[in-house]
Amino acid sequence: MSDILVHTEAGVATISFNRLERKNSITSAMYATLADAVTQAATDAAVRVLVFQGHETVFSAGNDIGDFLNTPPADPDAPVWRFMRALAAFPKPAIAAVCGPAVGIGTTLLFHCDLVYAGDNAAFSMPFVNLGLCPEFASSLMVPQMFGYHRAAEALLMGEPFMAEAALETGLVNRVLPPTEANGYAQAQARKLAAKPLSSLIETKRLMKKGQAAQIMAQMGEEGASFGRMLREPAAREAFGAFMEKRKPDFSKV
Ligand code: COA
Repeated sequence: MSDILVHTEAGVATISFNRLERKNSITSAMYATLADAVTQAATDAAVRVLVFQGHETVFSAGNDIGDFLNTPPADPDAPVWRFMRALAAFPKPAIAAVCGPAVGIGTTLLFHCDLVYAGDNAAFSMPFVNLGLCPEFASSLMVPQMFGYHRAAEALLMGEPFMAEAALETGLVNRVLPPTEANGYAQAQARKLAAKPLSSLIETKRLMKKGQAAQIMAQMGEEGASFGRMLREPAAREAFGAFMEKRKPDFSKV
């Protein structure tokens, strides 16, 4: 079965991460599928709302580290950047249901969703510094805006996981639920939105987001250039190598 499942029903397109054996980490091929699915959902008249979901035990472990090490995204049209641009510009409502770990892009993609529902086992983290990298997906802009600077600095400089209740307090999450209920609740909310006038949903989202749309794209571009460069540098090579070899990274020389 595919690592990304896309299913449209009753106006709701649901994108499911389906690579449980690798904790739903995302390869370049999966990013290509995600980019295509989001791009298509934006214009497909049968889609009124988009939902991202994972498994009750894990949302996504972020980028597949081996894949990133072997084939780092080389140009602005790499699937990962295409996916980010498509979601950042997605005009219709987007909802996420998050249970278990949501690492790296598993968390940063949530800043581009309109509603986020979390299982009480959700653990969000943005460990870019710990991987010798820098933030992506405009998180260096959107996390400080949402969390306030000091909480953002803790999340982005320390890179440690924070749980669903803390995410609720920062405003990242709308509601915390038992993990067995999170996906179902997100679907029910999506159905409610899908029954509303689409033109009003789109215009309301556009008006809420328009002040920042250009800034978000510009920040993503600047982050992407740094991220792409840093992926090839010694700190990231050491961090990724250590993950693959199941040892602690040694940053004493970088
Ligand atoms: N890329 C590639 N493989 C990954 C992965 C990733 N991001 N995350 C997990 N895996 C693999 C593990 O290597 C392991 O493989 P193995 O069975 O061959 O040993 C398997 O998936 C299960 O992961 P494991 O770490 O044993 O699960 P866990 O429940 O103990 O922990 C996580 C789950 C998500 C907390 C942990 O896997 C993790 O921290 N992953 C890395 C996250 C990360 O740094 N992502 C990059 C962000 S840019």
